[in-house]
Amino acid sequence: MFDLHDHDRNASIRHHLPAGLSDRIALRVVKFMRVFADAFFARRYGHRAVVLETVAAVPGMVGGMLQHLKALRHIRDDESWIRELLDEAENERMHLMAFSKIAKPSLLERALLLVAQGDFFNLYFLLYLLAPRTAHRVVGYLEKEAVISYTQYLEMVDAGHVESVPLRKWPSTTGTCHRTHACVN
Ligand SMILES: [Fe+2]
Repeated sequence: MFDLHDHDRNASIRHHLPAGLSDRIALRVVKFMRVFADAFFARRYGHRAVVLETVAAVPGMVGGMLQHLKALRHIRDDESWIRELLDEAENERMHLMAFSKIAKPSLLERALLLVAQGDFFNLYFLLYLLAPRTAHRVVGYLEKEAVISYTQYLEMVDAGHVESVPLRKWPSTTGTCHRTHACVN
């Protein structure tokens, strides 16, 4: 199912070393979130992916909304930032659509999504208002954790522990890499 980006699979995972307090806070926030994902999903990567994508689809929308309001307040051009961030939110939502076909979230997981979204949206909104730089760095570290999780997922597929789903069974909107992102990160 991951034929489209096999070329990325041997790529090393680059780590942005925290450059100051802002980066260190961002890294701690993401590591804290990872503790819950590890505790709840362990190696159930399909289900982990569903929750990860619901979280990953929030920052773009929050950032887009706040950049929109800022552009209105300052009466100035946004230099395409708003569209970029909203595209990112849509991109992650498409990933969610794809993984929901594979992992079929249970009622309990859907309840967890509700709580996770309520918490994460509000906390991220506040963080973006108070420290937008830190908020952007959170996304960077979140994407890195996604790369780690999906790499482990691919290793499980390669080892035959997880079913490999043919690309034709993926929803048509995600059948090709969406915009600038790889299909599953
Ligand atoms: Fe994603």
